[in-house]
Amino acid sequence: MAITVEAAKPQIGGIVHVDKAHLLDDDTIETVRRELETRGVLVFPGIDVSDELQLAFTDKLGDRVNFTRQVPGSDATSPDVYKITLDSKFNSEPDYVLGTFFWHVDGVTIDQPLPKATVLSARKLSASGGATEFANLYAAWEKLPEEEKREIENLRVIHSVEAAVRPVHGHPSEERRARYKAMAAVMEQPLVWTHADGRKSLLLGTHADGVVGMPGPHGRALLTRLQQWAAQPDFVYTHKWKLGDLVIWNNQGVMHRVVPYTDEGRVMHRTTIAGTERPGVPASEENIARIFQIA
Ligand SMILES: [Fe+2]
Repeated sequence: MAITVEAAKPQIGGIVHVDKAHLLDDDTIETVRRELETRGVLVFPGIDVSDELQLAFTDKLGDRVNFTRQVPGSDATSPDVYKITLDSKFNSEPDYVLGTFFWHVDGVTIDQPLPKATVLSARKLSASGGATEFANLYAAWEKLPEEEKREIENLRVIHSVEAAVRPVHGHPSEERRARYKAMAAVMEQPLVWTHADGRKSLLLGTHADGVVGMPGPHGRALLTRLQQWAAQPDFVYTHKWKLGDLVIWNNQGVMHRVVPYTDEGRVMHRTTIAGTERPGVPASEENIARIFQIA
């Protein structure tokens, strides 16, 4: 066996030991697929991949997807590798990256199958901050008291880019709001996602802006409480990056955020694996309007 995986924490995280020469082996890919379902996030310490190898690894795991063509800052010369950085030389709109300081699931406000997994490799580190935290949304569902599960099981949630960046920008300008509208949808997603294999997870993040049919404050209070529950230390793995580390996470069952940094030198390369399940639909105007009412 060319690959071994050790648990990082009981509820989340795995450390993968595999030689770079065996990264694309069928054995490796099968193990990564299986472990992603149970451990949520896998770390390949110091494996130091090139863009080519990262893309080949991505392709082995599924269809490559590039939702970043639709978001600010994507780099047209390497369209399937998105450079996450505050450096304006590489990223034309680094303030979008500031949204990654808050808990989120990638691609949740785009009307397409929810991306299955995200791959991130560390190319340049920041002097401080910049660790990435991952929270297991399967565990967050499983450990809820049964009574609470019954109360929330069938709720639906409105997700928007505007909510995702509200902690960054406060009230966005009309111009900014128009740009978000052009690149993303306001989506209605199940709060509790029953996946094709029958397992359930919560679907949460800062982009969750209200609960369908509830006045805004009631929905936001519930979502905030659940997000805090899901981010409790037992469900969270924090990755403190070293140069050359590669991390892959199950984007359908994990939310993530980065510990704030200000260093413009930090550069991460991201690739994304397409999902096949589409839990959400674009939200109706009526349901959106309801979450902005206070009673
Ligand atoms: Fe992200």
